[in-house]
Amino acid sequence: MKILSGMQPSGPLHLGNYLGALRQWVRAQNEDAYYCVVDLHALTLQIAPEELRANTTDLLASYLAAGLDPEVCTIFVQSHVSYHAQLNWLLECVATYGELSRMVAFKEKSERQEGYRVGLLTYPVLMAADILLYESEEVPVGDDQRQHLELTRDIAERFNNRFGPTFQVPVGVQPPVAARVMDLQDPSRKMSKSLASPLGTVYMFDAPVDIEKKIAKAVTDTDGEMRFDWDQKPGLSNLLEIYSSLSGETPEEVAARYSRYGELKSDLAALLIAILAPLRERYEELLASPDDLYKVAARGADKASVLAGSVYRRAAAAMGLT
Ligand code: TYM
Repeated sequence: MKILSGMQPSGPLHLGNYLGALRQWVRAQNEDAYYCVVDLHALTLQIAPEELRANTTDLLASYLAAGLDPEVCTIFVQSHVSYHAQLNWLLECVATYGELSRMVAFKEKSERQEGYRVGLLTYPVLMAADILLYESEEVPVGDDQRQHLELTRDIAERFNNRFGPTFQVPVGVQPPVAARVMDLQDPSRKMSKSLASPLGTVYMFDAPVDIEKKIAKAVTDTDGEMRFDWDQKPGLSNLLEIYSSLSGETPEEVAARYSRYGELKSDLAALLIAILAPLRERYEELLASPDDLYKVAARGADKASVLAGSVYRRAAAAMGLT
């Protein structure tokens, strides 16, 4: 089965990125899997060039540190495969302004930016191009990408209806728990790279003392009743989901084993550190040899270009380009 997913090089990865997406990628890497660093998407953030370069290197190291193996799956940088930008244009001539302006991520981000650029609006079309170029059947992503996946399906179906069967219509897949990890200080909003709160965001490569501190200070509630209940107890339920995603139990099973929040928190911090500390070590080693990371990316781009090129040419021909 073909799989594609990507992450923006917009800063260090947090627990939401890891549990919601990256860990699922590692599990699926034995399929025909393509994983990219979507640097073109990060241009919508008005990011400084040197920061974008450093973040791209960092994200390649993060992928490998998390357990993606370049001998098994294809790891590449989006801008190294020019078909993404090319198919983007073809799909912009299929997508409508109306459907793009209804995207929740666009509405939220455009409210926060004055004089936002066109790329912020057309971002999901580029994402559709990423996915459709690799004939992806499944796209492992967190819950916040559902709407973008639906749009990708709509665009693919519309294209196929108008120009004949060209694209595989993909489905988004979310993990059963931790598909939406919430901020530890404000469990009403998701843990986020762009709106990071210093104590509310646990980074994948945080030092163990910081992980302990952030989990210990996570906001819960005052009635002290151990129960998995997102409506009444969002802070606690968030911790239970994170725990459950690491231990393989259900959140209810985890809740049943504890009576005090403090104990749950210290065990959760220990579990996180046990899992993340070896990844952090590997990440630091990988970052010490950036040339090796770009060798991996170059091989990945060569391989990705073969499939992406053939799908692009199929789409271009279907539309009447000669
Ligand atoms: P990005 O870079 O914001 O996030 C990368 C992945 O992490 C997931 N994620 C979360 N999962 C659970 N809880 C959270 N708090 C949390 N925050 C982020 C995201 O769902 C995502 O899977 N548009 C995409 C990047 C993209 C892409 C693609 C993804 C571009 N092209 C093609 C898949 C396929 C994005 O901004 O993800």
